[in-house]
Order: sequence, then C-alpha cells, then structure tokens
Amino acid sequence: MTVPPEITARKEELCGLINKFNYQYYAVDNPEVSDSEYDRLFRELKQIEAEHPALLTLDSPTQRVGGQVLDKFIQVSHSLPMLSLDNMFNEADLKAFNKRVKDWLNSENTPTYIAEPKLDGLAISLRYEQGILVRAATRGDGKVGEDVTVNTRTISSIPLKLIGSGVPEVIEIRGEIFIPKLGFESLNKQQIADGKKPFVNPRNAAAGSLRQLDSRITANRPLEIYCYGLGEIKGLAEMPESHSAAMSMIEKWGCRISPELQKVSSIKACEAYIKQIGERRDTLAYDIDGVVFKVDDLYLQQRLGFVSRAPRWAIAHKFPAQQEMTTVEGIEIQVGRTGALTPVARLNPVFVGGVTVSNATLHNQDEIDRKDIRISDTVIVRRAGDVIPEVVQVVLSKRQEQSKPFILPSRCPICDSEAERLEGEVILRCTAGLYCPAQRKEAIKHFVSRKAIDVDGLGDKIIEQLVDKGLVDDPADLFTLKIGQLSALERMGDKSAENIINAIDLAKKTKFSSFLYSLGIREVGETTARSLAKHFLTLDALKEADEEVLIGIEDVGPIVAHSIVTFFHQPHNQEVIERLLMAGLEWPKEQQQLTNTVLSGKIVVLTGTLEELSRSEAKEKLLALGAKVAGSVSKNTDYVVAGRDAGSKLTKAEGLGVKVVDESTLIEWIR
Ligand code: IVH
Repeated sequence: MTVPPEITARKEELCGLINKFNYQYYAVDNPEVSDSEYDRLFRELKQIEAEHPALLTLDSPTQRVGGQVLDKFIQVSHSLPMLSLDNMFNEADLKAFNKRVKDWLNSENTPTYIAEPKLDGLAISLRYEQGILVRAATRGDGKVGEDVTVNTRTISSIPLKLIGSGVPEVIEIRGEIFIPKLGFESLNKQQIADGKKPFVNPRNAAAGSLRQLDSRITANRPLEIYCYGLGEIKGLAEMPESHSAAMSMIEKWGCRISPELQKVSSIKACEAYIKQIGERRDTLAYDIDGVVFKVDDLYLQQRLGFVSRAPRWAIAHKFPAQQEMTTVEGIEIQVGRTGALTPVARLNPVFVGGVTVSNATLHNQDEIDRKDIRISDTVIVRRAGDVIPEVVQVVLSKRQEQSKPFILPSRCPICDSEAERLEGEVILRCTAGLYCPAQRKEAIKHFVSRKAIDVDGLGDKIIEQLVDKGLVDDPADLFTLKIGQLSALERMGDKSAENIINAIDLAKKTKFSSFLYSLGIREVGETTARSLAKHFLTLDALKEADEEVLIGIEDVGPIVAHSIVTFFHQPHNQEVIERLLMAGLEWPKEQQQLTNTVLSGKIVVLTGTLEELSRSEAKEKLLALGAKVAGSVSKNTDYVVAGRDAGSKLTKAEGLGVKVVDESTLIEWIR
C-alpha cells in the first residue's frame, strides 16, 4: 500500500518537531512548547505510524519507549579505539604532565587546555550515518564493546537524528551515560518498594540499566548523557580546529555537552578549576570522580598521539573516592537524651570522601535488618561532602561463615532497664528516663547547649565526669556546684573551674524560649519553644494549658501537645523546674503581641529613612502591634510608612493606591 505523500511529509514534519522539542527539553533545558502540545504531536505521530507501518523509521521519537527484547548483546569492534585516561592526584603530577606535553611539542608555552568534569558513568560511542543514530556501543575493552543501540534509543537526551546543517556522512560521538543523583534516589526507592536490591551507586545503576536485554526496563531508568569527544568521521566539510569548536559543533547538532567546560591556559588556572569543581562536587546534579584536562588544539592532539591505551594530550585529576570498603569491627549501642538506643558501627578506619571514617550510625534495628549488617562483615562505606558517613551495603561474598544477624539488646546497655519499642516507632528506647545515667548526661548536655541556656566552657567530658561522680543528677544541680568540686575533676585547674562557675551564673539570665527549649521536652525544638513562649508569655500559663489549647498554636500538633502536657505533669520535672527557679534562673517578660489593634493582621511596608526610630525598632513595634512587616509593596499591602527620601516603593504604593503614612502616624500607632 502506498502512502499518500502528504502523510509522509506530515510524518517527517512531526519527527522533526518532536526531536527538536526533545532536544530543547532534555539537552538544553529550554522547552518551547507546552507538555500538552508535545503530547498531542506525539499521539498524532503514533497514529500515523500505526496506520502506515512502512513509515516507521529509526529516528522516530516513538521508538524511545523501548520494546525490543534481546537474548544477548552483539559484540562490535570500534573503528577507532575508545581510549582511557591517565590519572594524576596532585600538583606535581599536573606539572609533570604539562612538562611532558611541552617537551613533546618542543614548545616553551603551556598550551590551552579544556577542563571538564570527569563524569562517573559509563562511556558510549554513538554512530550517526546520514545524521541518523544507527549504532551505540559500550566501551568494552576499548577495542570491542557491546551493541546497546536499542536501549540507547530510549534515552531522551540522546538525539535519534542530528539536527541542523553540515552533518557529515558518518560521525561517531562519544560521551558518558549516567544517572543523576535525584534519579538514582527515586530509582532505589522504587527498587526497594518492588522488593528488589537497591543499587550501590549511580554508576552501577547506570551500567545495569543500559545493559538490560529488555529495552522497556531501560526506558524507565533516568539515564542521561553528556558528550565529550569524537570517534570516526567521514565526509565532514570543515573539520573543527579545536576540541572546544568540535563540542560547539555537535552541540548545534543536538548533542548535550556539559555546561562546565572551561578554557584554561596555565597551571594556576587548572588548579583553580580543580578547586572550584571540587567545592561544588556535592551540589552538582550528578556524580563526578574528578576533572579532565585536554589539549584544545586538535592538530596538537594529533601530534601528541597516544601511548598504550591513553592519549598523551589528556589527563584526569582524580578526587578522593566517596565510597570505600572496610570491615565492621563491632556494633556499639549509644543512648541518647530521650533514651533512644542507636546502634553505631565501629569500623576499621578508612579514608573516604577526604576524611578518615571510623564510625557510622546504623540508625535502628529495621535499618540493620534491611541491610543485614553483621559484626565482622566487609561493607561499603560512603561519605559525600558534609553528609554523615553511611554503610551502603554489605559485601556478601566476603562474609564470614560463622557471622550471625545483629539484634539490638532488650535492655539498656548503660542502666540495664528494659528497652521498649512503641507501636509504630522504629526506635528502641530505654524506659528509665532520667534514672538512666546516659540519658541524664545527654539531658544536661542539652540543657547547657548554646541554643538552650548556653553555659560557656562546660563541655561533654566535664558533664560526664560530674554525672559519674554523682555531683550532678539533673540540670538544677549545676547551680549548686562549688569551685572545689570542679577543680577536683580530671584535667581541670582552679582557673577553669572558676570560669565555669561564672559561666553557670551568667547563664541564669536567659530567655523564656531558650529556657523552654533547654528543658528537653520531647518534640519541642527551637522553633516550637519560640512559638510557645510567644503565645503563653509565662511559664504558669503554659503549664496550665491542655492539649486542646496547645494544638491551636503554630508548630504544635497532637504529638507535640501530648508530649508537653506529659512533661509538665511529671512530678520529677515539676521539682527540677522549681529548683531551677529557686536557683535564680530568670528571663525578661515576653513582649505581649497585642490583638485587636488597628494594625492586627495588616501588612505594612517601611521605606525611606525614619528620624526617630531605627528600622529594626519600628519593625519590632509593628510586629508587637500584630502587623506583618513586608519587604516589598504589592496590591495586598495595607500601609506604606514613608520616611525621608523614600523612593521606588513609595512611587509603587501611590501607583497601586496603597495608603501612605508618615513617621508621625507610626509613632501615634505605637503610643
Ligand atoms: S575523554 C581519549 N572526557 O573516563 C580520552 N572521558 O578514564 C577519552 N570520562 O572511559 C575519554 N568524563 O568513560 C573523557 N569529560 C570526559 C570524561 C571521560 C568521564 C570517562 C570515560 C572514559 C574514562 C577514562
């Protein structure tokens, strides 16, 4: 059956449009059409292809969804080998590399390099013939790889057809396929939800996803590409002179290039690049394991050539690994302020993510069970940036035969009281409350911490000794300490003892919110403590509040409300509070926030210079009157207070018809 020419033309038009929109959306993140318009075009194309199967071509975007299932991957020889990179680790290596390049080129000058991130994924070679993607192959051993064309077609940021002018007869484009960090997280969540093993890292996930015999699976994996080089080329009218020009050329044809490429022309600039990418490593959307420097000039690249399997014109600077293997020497149980028993793995120290890691929290029994972590296991530890180190996975092949699953104790390891796990909670807790020395220590550490009553110089080690020696049982005991008792502690002189006593004395003057926070009421963090202080103004008012009243307050839900009521009902807590107040703990009366003033709920904007009040005073007073102080004028603004030299905000207010008042009105309001 012949296809009417107008249908063929429409099919081609649709392919072109959709491929262009794909490029805008996935490669340059700059879409020009709405999702619904895109969907409409896509459906139209599918319909045409269904009615006229003869029109189905390899560059059709409908082919991205996958479908074909293979029994094995076919091997392909690379027409030009896929090289690897030599590594360097420090400044001296970088200088040595630069010297080798200059010597080989017989040149005095450092050539221009292109610096790029070294992506941590897997290399791919994409072969385009007449602009159409005809084959995609993995690197393999560099000479022979695997044909993963069908899977690669499902990756939206890989063009099925190169767009624009000057596309040659044959071109191989090389790049790195990877899964971004966010995509990795959601993929692993899905794996766990499906009862499957999570992937160890994005690179393994990317490799596993690309090597699926069922391309429908690959189609559902969040794979992406950045292109970084070229292979075989035939029939290109004008060869680019540099690597950077080559990258711009393929970018115009629709290939995705890293936005981090940068020209660097000195060792200093190379080092600055290493530093800036290193600092941003954790905030990049994808994993990198270093940076690559390449001689920009392609003629010079050719003169330099390569040795064994790596080019002389490029080098990779490797960042410290963020994942390493080590062994679990033991699992200790820590008891927290609220009695939570937290298992912590003691690790054979290992250098990972730039620091030596010897502990990693295992969180709770569920987490231990899920990962089946046992003492003596070999594990993979990950530490990325400032994130706390984590045991990612056990290396099961290295497990010792006699190892047993680890189970948290049923009693507190410190006070031997029973530990319980409340329904619906994952945390096991010691039930002894402040009778447990561990909880007591943590409660006191919290009480003196900076955001609580803030006692300068009273460190954890001192508190531990004070509790162990029976000198301090609860926060109120701190105020009865004598210099002599402190100076008798390990590594403590008279002077330091005196300083601490003074600091304790100084901390007596506090704020109501800090005091509430310092009590360590479960679920009451800094913000809740502030809301409570602002709302109740006095301790007595708060103590009398029932759950219903509490739930009506900002930041307070039923669990928090319950926890507050329970806390103030406990005789022990009442007694400690009583003794704290007796010891002289005090705070200024909270500022009453007035309701029912002319300003309650009104939005006020301050602008220009005020004569009698400072900006912050004015703001504070307005807040106390129940107003909201905003930074910019909109149609929702109720008043603009205009001081001297008021500018654009005043103009805008006048334009919008917002009521404008002067400082004397403001002062009247306050009075
Ligand atoms: S260029 C001739 N550039 O690193 C040089 N490779 O160790 C060929 N890689 O197999 C590679 N990011 O998978 C180059 N910006 C980048 C790269 C990069 C990651 C990978 C690539 C290669 C391996 C070499």
